[in-house]
Amino acid sequence: MTVSDPVVEDVVATISRTATEIRQGLIGRRGTVDEENPSGETQAEADVWADELLSDRVAGIDGVGQYASEERADVVACGDDPATSSAYAVAVDPLDGSSNLKSNNAMGTIFGVYDAALPARGDTLVAAGYVLYGPITTLVLATDETVSEYELTGGERTLIERDVTLPAEPVVYGFGGRVPDWPDDFREYAREIESELKLRYGGALIGDVNQVLTYGGTFGYPALQSRPTGKLRLQFEGNPIGYVVERAGGRSSNGSQSLLTVDPDDLHDRTPVHVGNDDLIERLEAALA
Ligand code: F6P
Ligand code: MN
Repeated sequence: MTVSDPVVEDVVATISRTATEIRQGLIGRRGTVDEENPSGETQAEADVWADELLSDRVAGIDGVGQYASEERADVVACGDDPATSSAYAVAVDPLDGSSNLKSNNAMGTIFGVYDAALPARGDTLVAAGYVLYGPITTLVLATDETVSEYELTGGERTLIERDVTLPAEPVVYGFGGRVPDWPDDFREYAREIESELKLRYGGALIGDVNQVLTYGGTFGYPALQSRPTGKLRLQFEGNPIGYVVERAGGRSSNGSQSLLTVDPDDLHDRTPVHVGNDDLIERLEAALA
């Protein structure tokens, strides 16, 4: 199944092909480099390498005017300015959860295609998705039309499910951050959820969100006492994941409003991220109000 917008289709096909290379190239790139990304995190060799591969390929697509990534400070201008033309801006987290490289656990690549110049609100996304490097490589893609899941083999995508929707009955939850660092109101809410759902937390946003999309439930990386704006990045993680989950019939929140309605100040803004079944996000927002 191809996407009707040819530029979006080109972006998705390019990321699918590149993801297959990224997966193969992880072998031998499990070490760290002596650098930090713009969020102050130590970069893995694979983070830097995946960003270079993606920027080379995505920035060359006709109709893409900006490329930005969690691994580089500034937006790369690579075509017409999305602020004044019909060109799109593509934002990626090249290797989400790369600290899982050391323990050989799940990781992913996240992308968002914005119909606006970066940094942009999530409600300007025209497509977003992620590749999950699990036992098999899958792509979850959300567009205006639908959310679909594909298997990736040799860069080709095979449709597995055309209309992915969040199961109505929630089953799993995963919350990031250390419990003593959680604000009291979030801790009270989490205690309730722990007694209702089953814990699934693997330390890579993509792996944990895919559990929620598969079984129903909620993922949260809340505001912390030590870090009131949370850990995850709005442009590269919060918005694309919020878009996927909302399109699949769930909700997203920064604690008080949909992630897709948050006005960004900076390309690398952080935000608390909560996604999942409607009633769980409603309860979360009520608990934090
Ligand atoms: O990209 C940041 C990230 O690796 C996410 O993929 C993940 O959800 C989170 O950090 C895990 O953080 P922690 O190690 O605090 O659980
Ligand atoms: Mn990430």
